[in-house]
Amino acid sequence: MLAGKKIVLGITGSIAAYKAACLCRALIKKGAEVQVVITPAGKEFITPVTLSALTQKPVVSAFFTANDGTWHSHVDIGLWADLMLIAPATAATIGKMANGIADNMLITTYLSMKAPVFIAPAMDLDMYAHPSTQQNLEKLKSYGNQIIEPATGFLASALEGKGRMEEPDTIVKVLETFFEKKVQLTQKKVLITAGPTYEKIDPVRYISNYSSGKMGFALAEECAARGAEVILITGPVRLETIHPNIKRINVESAEEMHQAALAHFPETDTGILCAAVADYKPVHYSENKLKRKSGESLTLELTPNPDIAKSLGEIKKENQVLVGFALETDNELPNAKEKLQKKNLDFIVLNSLRDAGAGFREDTNKITIIDAEGNAKAFPLKSKKEVAADVMDTITTVRYMSIEEGRRLFHESMKQLENCLKQNDE
Ligand code: C5P
Repeated sequence: MLAGKKIVLGITGSIAAYKAACLCRALIKKGAEVQVVITPAGKEFITPVTLSALTQKPVVSAFFTANDGTWHSHVDIGLWADLMLIAPATAATIGKMANGIADNMLITTYLSMKAPVFIAPAMDLDMYAHPSTQQNLEKLKSYGNQIIEPATGFLASALEGKGRMEEPDTIVKVLETFFEKKVQLTQKKVLITAGPTYEKIDPVRYISNYSSGKMGFALAEECAARGAEVILITGPVRLETIHPNIKRINVESAEEMHQAALAHFPETDTGILCAAVADYKPVHYSENKLKRKSGESLTLELTPNPDIAKSLGEIKKENQVLVGFALETDNELPNAKEKLQKKNLDFIVLNSLRDAGAGFREDTNKITIIDAEGNAKAFPLKSKKEVAADVMDTITTVRYMSIEEGRRLFHESMKQLENCLKQNDE
């Protein structure tokens, strides 16, 4: 997966910089082309000679070479790369990246980078745990950068804790998995519904629920990162999309979401219905604000909204996959299985409000995925980003060809081709 990939390796001034040599070697052994960009402090820990010998390329550190004035273009490096990895990343570099302080070649390269960026922090445990470091990492994540969490163990400060740069082999595996997944949904189109819907009562009031849209947005990013073109139909939420392959359609009511979903579902391979659609809407909308009449109660008459999942289940074609979500408060598994059947879904992702950390507005979720045959797979509490990966791993392995299967077929066809060529030669 790394063969032929162009990787910019950013190295900063941490004792873990010595591991960058092993990282270089491992990447090159896998067939990647590596361009090192090192900060002035990084050079105090590992010499550019070691790195240029390993990568067979001059190491870039300054904006130009002092003796002959050769200009190093951070913009060109940003355009050249398939991926940028900053390992080790110190607290200082993380802070500069998060705040756009472009005072060295590595940061300018980062700011010009067109390719995905991975960051492997390395620092003392207290520096890592400090709110400013954590806030900077959160900021970098919100820009779409991926953090390779440091490991827990023995640190250069002689203390023990979380802060050790992840081992080179593990970092290489993370990058391989990234490139593997990047092609998994190439040429697939995915429709995702997310967030709540607003059902208007009058110009200032509406009926809705606590949905934040976080799960649906995490799924949209995950699908786009795996190469899919994503149509994200979302109710009103305070979230931004990051990946350029996500086309966002903002709607307000269940009726609007229904129309948008019906219009786009036929052109997609997969529908993932994550929205918490209001089941009912007021029968009458009042053009003017309803006035309070003292002492009198107010009765709102409600009428059912369309069931988007059910409508899509009815028009679903043989080659399309439809996934629903079920947030339950009781009798969870039987309720979810019943919904899966009624709505003609291929999978239903169940979460229960009884599980701490699962459900509305949380950054975490605890799910069970049930397939059309009734097989259920339970997952532990995870971040919504990880949950999105679990959902996509499960549905792609079952419904699309798995990566392993794809590889096996590819190697088989290569062997056949080789045999064919051999026979021709003979
Ligand atoms: O509301 P309920 O528990 O039935 O939701 C289960 C699934 O159906 C979810 O995937 C939800 O997005 C979808 N749904 C829908 N339209 C509705 C109600 C629910 O698409 N009106």
